[in-house]
Amino acid sequence: MSNKNLHFETKRIHSGYSSAEHFYAVNTPIYQTAGFDLGDIDRARRLWTGSEAGGIYSRVGNPTVSVLEERIKELDGGSAAIGVASGMAAITYTILLLGEGGGNIISASSLYGAAQESLTNFFPKFGITTKFVKNRNDVREYEALIDDNTKAVYLESISNPNAEIYDFEAIAEVAHKHGVPVVVDNTVATPYLFRPFEHGADIIVYSATKGLSGHGNTIAGLVVEKGDFKYSKERFPQFYQKSYKMRDLEGNPRTPLELAPNAPFVTSLRIFYLEFIGATLGAFDAFLVLQGLSTLTERMEKQVATTKKLVAYLETRKEVTWVRHPFAKDSNYKALAEKYFPNGAGAVFSFGFGGTREQFKEFIKALEIFSYHVNIGDVRSLIVNSPETTHAELAPELHELADIPGNLVRISVGLEHADDLITDLEQAFHKAFS
Ligand SMILES: Cc1ncc(COP(=O)(O)O)c(C=O)c1O
Repeated sequence: MSNKNLHFETKRIHSGYSSAEHFYAVNTPIYQTAGFDLGDIDRARRLWTGSEAGGIYSRVGNPTVSVLEERIKELDGGSAAIGVASGMAAITYTILLLGEGGGNIISASSLYGAAQESLTNFFPKFGITTKFVKNRNDVREYEALIDDNTKAVYLESISNPNAEIYDFEAIAEVAHKHGVPVVVDNTVATPYLFRPFEHGADIIVYSATKGLSGHGNTIAGLVVEKGDFKYSKERFPQFYQKSYKMRDLEGNPRTPLELAPNAPFVTSLRIFYLEFIGATLGAFDAFLVLQGLSTLTERMEKQVATTKKLVAYLETRKEVTWVRHPFAKDSNYKALAEKYFPNGAGAVFSFGFGGTREQFKEFIKALEIFSYHVNIGDVRSLIVNSPETTHAELAPELHELADIPGNLVRISVGLEHADDLITDLEQAFHKAFS
């Protein structure tokens, strides 16, 4: 079956899987094995030179994981994808590969805490620094920061926790004018709400721990490559370096671009990063992500609809000082949301708690349906005080840069009935403030 003209709803269930290749199993089997029989000496040689596709060792590839890789590739419209052990592994592999030999990243200043902290203080240990843009949608600021050593523009399609969004196409135009690829963390949006490659992105990273798997039962990451970015030899020599690990059948070393002209990025991640660093996605975890993906549309639609109701409710509460989501009445992101997120800008948002610390403790304690917990994209609705948890690693000046005030509370909307969630918040406000 050709996947070309299928709708998203069909692809998220069928892409990348043919039962005839898996003993006619209807569900993707979990290939829970470390290694694979190599067959014979000639086959082993073909496997090692990439001239025959097949399992070797699950650190660098596994059939269950391959189905997920193919599926996300199809959903995003990319040329290749790779499963890794976590969202942070996806981000770290991507930054390290683009920044091989050193360089800088241009990023907006409000990101998931570990991403922001690693760009600020961890990657510099490997010669990769980050310049943070202050006004996320001022393309002149991006352009002014790009130099000969810039290796990527890095964005979150919907920022965590403030649900801010970008003028993706304008930013990508500036990055591409200077030969710089755009990396988008599409975790909060998922490909159901936003397809970054259609708006200028070149590489997508995911924490599949969140909405993609959707049930809060696995840790997983994915990297997807669009496949048409023209890496220049000067800025990205790593894609022009011959390696014996990429040799052909005759033993001639090849470059990533020679081995995989449409997928040099993901191919390099697999051959060097999975092989040498080894933060691999396990077969069972890939299976859980596949299970979750098959209901992605319905989950996201319902979560977005409930988000609209919760935002509207919280805006009426005197105990709430502000609400940040494009659904909020005074959001600055309404026009961008209309352009880029016709199905809604996600189900994660923040609000300002307008009480004392004691009242906040009481409020969290009183909640009966919301879980007080750091994940997002779960079937359960989750609530957390980001400044002290998900973004706790950021020093005070980074909180300011990322616009994370001390009274910020983040909600990730689940699949419960909206009225029950509102009743839960209502009774908790009542207990905390009475
Ligand atoms: C937007 C975003 N990207 C990446 C990550 C990291 O994902 P993981 O926890 O799977 O490493 C998170 C985790 O919360 C996130 O919210």
